[in-house]
Amino acid sequence: MRVAIPTEISNAETRVGATPETVKKLINLGALVTVQAGAGRASGVTDGDFEAAGATVAPDAAATYQDADLVLKVRRPEAAELGHIKRGASIIATMDPYGQDAALSAMAQAGVNAFAMEFMPRITRAQVMDVLSSQANLAGYRAVIDGAGEYGRALPMMMTAAGTVPAARIFIMGVGVAGLQAIATARRLGAIVTATDVRPATKEQVESLGAKFIAVEDEEFKQAETSGGYAKEMSDAYKAKQADLVASHIAKQDIVITTALIPGRPAPKLISAAMVGSMRAGSVIVDLAVERGGNCELATPGETVVTENGVHIVGHLNVPGRLAATASSLYAKNLLAFVETMVDKGTKTLAPKWDDELVKATLLTRDGAIVHPNFLPKP
Ligand code: NAI
Repeated sequence: MRVAIPTEISNAETRVGATPETVKKLINLGALVTVQAGAGRASGVTDGDFEAAGATVAPDAAATYQDADLVLKVRRPEAAELGHIKRGASIIATMDPYGQDAALSAMAQAGVNAFAMEFMPRITRAQVMDVLSSQANLAGYRAVIDGAGEYGRALPMMMTAAGTVPAARIFIMGVGVAGLQAIATARRLGAIVTATDVRPATKEQVESLGAKFIAVEDEEFKQAETSGGYAKEMSDAYKAKQADLVASHIAKQDIVITTALIPGRPAPKLISAAMVGSMRAGSVIVDLAVERGGNCELATPGETVVTENGVHIVGHLNVPGRLAATASSLYAKNLLAFVETMVDKGTKTLAPKWDDELVKATLLTRDGAIVHPNFLPKP
């Protein structure tokens, strides 16, 4: 079983699909691991570290992918990468497949088994493989650090001889995995934290972290969680009530961190231009939903903009990649845990069990065709 760990070709990607720790474990499973030179550089892992773990370091992509049975990546392979991969090989990555019909067809035509890690079911057995959680948790932490960095004042209350510094007020919108970590981080830094969500289950979670919960708690709110634990798209009437509540609250906040998402839909717009206009100069909005359209009307993907009234709106892309070393180490463990379920321990070969629910949930293409139910051609 040959495993390839390529260097990500997207400039925005700092993470890598394996670490020396996971390379050792892959080798124990019977793998021969080849890592492309420089693959770990942005994550603080040198070629020498990978070699010391037992991997071979290859000079370029062609040599890395040669004869690989399994490719462990961060992002979906592009055409140039697919050209190096043999038919029948498996690729595990975050595939970001919605609206990417051409890329899906290209993977099918290349004859690869493409597995999308973000489709891993959120069941107990697969918790260790949950890349959405491992990366969102870090994004939530980093959003507070980025917000604090952009904010020209201190976060904790300080009583000094020269005077008292008030604690910053931080408002977290959307309390999933990222939002919970953002609350915990903001609390540790001494801020006064409030948070909102449309799922009732979050109220207790917010309060248990020492923050105050703020939401329109009407009948619709009581029904807002799907059986899968996600949020529904809310009605226009609810959105209007929510906007009223947010408008009066947000004007008094120093840092606002937005993380609200609805699976398969654009991010809900929660902060209007008028709300931004009501905020004080020097206050900060960090929009973690910017890659999915943004929760703030004025957020710009990949940029930090300062509005006329002096509000800083931060729209970093790939926020987990801003903590590349930690993000890679957790991501690589998520991948390894999935690979472990697919290796035949007797023959030490890769042998995906095609009827396993984890495989069925994540497999996008196989034997030259798109096989995932969400992407089958419409009849
Ligand atoms: P997500 O990334 O899909 O959304 C983030 C948050 O935004 C959610 O809490 C959602 O309710 C909120 N949101 C959506 N629309 C909103 C609106 N209009 N206003 C305010 N907030 C809004 O969520 P994530 O982080 O993936 O978590 C979703 C659920 O999955 C949670 O219940 C979480 O606890 C659960 N979960 C379960 C796991 C497991 O069982 N293995 C692992 C990780 C998460």
